Amino acid sequence: MKVLLTGGTGYIGSHTAIELIKLGFEVEIMDNLFNSKITVLDKIEKISGVKPKFYKVDLLDKDGMDKMFSEGQYDLVIHFAGLKAVGESVEKPLKYYENNVGGTINLLECMKKHNVNKIIFSSSATVYGEQNVARLTEEMQTGIGITNPYGETKHVIEEILKDVAEADSKFEATILRYFNPVGAHPSGLIGEDPNDIPNNLMPIVMKVSTGEIKELSVYGDDYDTVDGTGVRDYIHVVDLAKGHVAAIKKMKPGISIYNLGTGKGTSVLEMVAAFEKASGKKLPYKIVGRRAGDLAEVYADPSKAERELGWKTELMIEDAMNDTINYLKHIAK
Ligand code: NAD
Ligand code: UFG
Repeated sequence: MKVLLTGGTGYIGSHTAIELIKLGFEVEIMDNLFNSKITVLDKIEKISGVKPKFYKVDLLDKDGMDKMFSEGQYDLVIHFAGLKAVGESVEKPLKYYENNVGGTINLLECMKKHNVNKIIFSSSATVYGEQNVARLTEEMQTGIGITNPYGETKHVIEEILKDVAEADSKFEATILRYFNPVGAHPSGLIGEDPNDIPNNLMPIVMKVSTGEIKELSVYGDDYDTVDGTGVRDYIHVVDLAKGHVAAIKKMKPGISIYNLGTGKGTSVLEMVAAFEKASGKKLPYKIVGRRAGDLAEVYADPSKAERELGWKTELMIEDAMNDTINYLKHIAK
């Protein structure tokens, strides 16, 4: 089966490419390299033995996309490409709607023109909004109380996919709602390497540990949680990548939606302690005020994915921390 990964040089896409290649899938990658580096392709080759064919194309470049699809003759698309900085999306909403929503519409048009009916979409726990309380299940109503334009783009794309499936009985779409991906490949060769200043917890923890950022600001210790700090469902990126392989094997006409998470919540201070334990070093942090739009607790009920896809997470926070530290050692070389 020939699979196109949009955004495939990015963090989650590159790990998924490796899992797919391992199982004999033919993988091609398109990316505009806005938030990833071309050298990722060599690292994929080093780990998997195969260097995927690469197209430097933007989702918004209709002609470039058309040409790629003409050459590619894909059976399925995994659509990772998108902008994901929550804070930036508040400042530049149009950029996010144009890139994420407009880009997905271009992709879907191209798929239709070239008779590609299968898509897996990278959605997010953010679509559950503020009104739903953890444990989050796929049946909960989504789209109400989303606190930023980035999250809105994920919700809108989910709705577009549902409408396309309604209009076309051959269309097969699987929506994967990721919780918080962390960790790196155990080889230490690939991991999260954002081109700009990070705003997620683990990339910041990494930069604090290398001294690039002085200390971690912990956003609030007055939530109603185990220790007052925010609780999230941190999923190892290799487990997440394997979730895509499981989803491919169970594609069916219409829309299928799955949470990809561990089902377990971990607080910010528990994450700090886990990093300190794995690295053997203190991680400087200070408690500051809450970050606007943050929720107290977000974690998945992942039982549907286990039931229907036969997938569940196998790795622990400790694995994610060890792999992150190993990855940091490789970057430092
Ligand atoms: P990433 O930034 O590492 O990868 C996304 C890739 O898409 C990047 O390589 C970027 O260059 C590319 N891209 C962006 N806009 C593009 C365009 N117009 N044309 C071509 N390429 C484009 O991010 P990631 O963490 O690997 O996330 C992958 C997907 O998963 C994204 O859609 C993201 O919103 C979603 N997601 C991520 C998280 C997370 O915390 N990492 C959580 C939930 C959902
Ligand atoms: N946090 C800090 N300090 C920081 C950064 C984060 O204390 O410097 C805390 C947050 O307050 C939160 C937790 O760490 O309690 C996780 O924050 P992240 O920014 O890493 O992740 P979020 O859960 O806020 O959001 C992420 C992605 C969203 C996605 C969501 C669910 O940024 O795009 O996970 O998948 F929608």
